[in-house]
Amino acid sequence: MKKLAVIDSGIGGLSVVRELLKLDNEIGINYFGDNIRVPYGNMSREEILSCMGNILDFLYKKGVTDCLVACNTMSSAILNTGYTHKIKLYNIVTPAIDEVKRLRLSKAAILATKFTIASKEYEKRLKAIGTDELLEMASASLAALIENFDDNRDIIEEELLDYKRLIDEGGYKNLILGCTHYEFIDSIFKDLMPEVEFIRPAKLLAESFDTSGLEKGDFNIYTTKGQETYIKSLRTLDIKKKLNIQDYIEI
Ligand code: DGL
Repeated sequence: MKKLAVIDSGIGGLSVVRELLKLDNEIGINYFGDNIRVPYGNMSREEILSCMGNILDFLYKKGVTDCLVACNTMSSAILNTGYTHKIKLYNIVTPAIDEVKRLRLSKAAILATKFTIASKEYEKRLKAIGTDELLEMASASLAALIENFDDNRDIIEEELLDYKRLIDEGGYKNLILGCTHYEFIDSIFKDLMPEVEFIRPAKLLAESFDTSGLEKGDFNIYTTKGQETYIKSLRTLDIKKKLNIQDYIEI
């Protein structure tokens, strides 16, 4: 039997959990969010890999065998580095690229963290499948602002308006939501950019994953910070499943 984990720097990966549970609400999920260190998107590759290694070691001790890396930043940090762990890892970039390929887009915009954009992992793969005209937008602040959404709604909207201007000016019709945190504000994206079609790596990762052979069970959340953010986020995403939260985990 396989035991599943989903990891992210914070709450963003819950958007992958939501999609997984739509496919099978019975599967047991062990979620790790490193909320005390979020955002990872402004870290170096070495820092990201070190945090990620600690998270995976923790989960391995819990018996986890398979892990969805529900974070574009961590996924970009491990792609092409030969990084492996005793836990089998599934990155979020590949299913997104597969979707762009399926749609045969020669032109697309992507919004992601600083690290994800700077790593060029999306860029290389998109260009290789013929998506030659790319608008790459890096945000150093959105993920952290979304962690405390209620206090930051206005600043978030202002920042999105800047991206909207670039998207409109360049005549882009498709936007890759290249950070799982952005799923929390998808209604703002849709309101501000009604003409844009969104490519959603969070949904695509969940749908590309074969859930057969997974242990059934509860939804266990491990976080390095307090649990309040999770209670609120699960309500926002309308995730209903028997829940156990362990907070202030030290890794
Ligand atoms: N949710 C993450 C991603 O998909 C990371 C955000 C961050 O920690 O900067 O990239």
